[in-house]
Amino acid sequence: AMTQSDMEKRVWDMKRELGTRLFMPGHYYQKEEVIQFADETGDSLKLAKTGAANKEAEYIVFCGVHFMAETADILSEDHQTVLLPDLRAGCSMADMAEITQLEKAWENLQGTFADTITPLTYVNSTAAIKAFCGRHEGATLTSSNAGTMLQWAFRRKERILFLPDQHLGRNTAYDMGIPLEEMAVWDPIRQELDCDGDPEKVRMILWKGHCSVHEKFTMDNVRQVRKDDPEAHIIVHPECMFDVVQASDAAGSTNKIIDMIQKAPAGSTWVVGTEMNLVNRLMQEETDKKVRSLNPNMCPCLTMNRIDLPHLLWSLESILSAEPHYRIEVDEQTTREATTALQRMLQQ
Ligand code: 13P
Ligand code: SF4
Repeated sequence: AMTQSDMEKRVWDMKRELGTRLFMPGHYYQKEEVIQFADETGDSLKLAKTGAANKEAEYIVFCGVHFMAETADILSEDHQTVLLPDLRAGCSMADMAEITQLEKAWENLQGTFADTITPLTYVNSTAAIKAFCGRHEGATLTSSNAGTMLQWAFRRKERILFLPDQHLGRNTAYDMGIPLEEMAVWDPIRQELDCDGDPEKVRMILWKGHCSVHEKFTMDNVRQVRKDDPEAHIIVHPECMFDVVQASDAAGSTNKIIDMIQKAPAGSTWVVGTEMNLVNRLMQEETDKKVRSLNPNMCPCLTMNRIDLPHLLWSLESILSAEPHYRIEVDEQTTREATTALQRMLQQ
């Protein structure tokens, strides 16, 4: 069997051999054994932009999850092939919104609210959901531009249907001054709107989805930190639950989390509510600060972690043997409509 260092050497060799024929973006949540090879690292927005800008590479090997590879394929040129090193690297949140559920939800909501809704989807969604948003005058967003995109949508129509992450939707809308009473949750299983008050007042319809990693950061975790270490700064990803975000000192995309901690004064303590690999990296790199996870159990994203060194090696070998494996290919019509939704975001 190959040792870790054999495998690493082989990947460096293949990268050298492939040169600019290969482009490898890597999300911040990737393991060190993988991200060390990335040509570009970033949050979802940065990776979507740099992926779209690369017109040269013949192969894009995406070190991230399935929806990111789909976005890369949607924004890529015809001559470019996108590969995902392990097809099981999905995203449980993206899987919480299926296109058939959305079609039904839309029909139902049009019955109540007529033509007053703009659909917005977090990029953590399937290409089919993005295409739906493209067809219905909606757009995509990421955690970096969620506020801007909500404002964009509210300039067009009075309501938003926000998919698939209820927490990002609620946290972003609340930050813009929309009270919780003007938000309701659409349950895609029961096909029902959970709404306490008058539906006429609802401006924000939140799809009932969540990230199973970020839901593991709880109010108990926050209380424990406040008790043990009142000087510590708590910073979380906006995929965390509303109460947790409210009780934290800051919230933001992975890029913002990194940026704030890098710029923080030496000696300060940062307790972070996001995926384990990023927290570990910050602990190792920001040695003049104290960094730790908000949940002592660390919270890995199991699907992000499916991309490992053996799968990366295997993916590059498949290219060199002219039999590229695990190609991610979005059909033409979906690509066209999803591009519309993505472009509305990238133009903001
Ligand atoms: P960002 O890197 O855009 O903040 O997204 C986090 C995430 O959960 C990606 O799946
Ligand atoms: Fe999906 Fe959550 Fe993993 Fe991000 S951290 S890829 S949202 S399951």
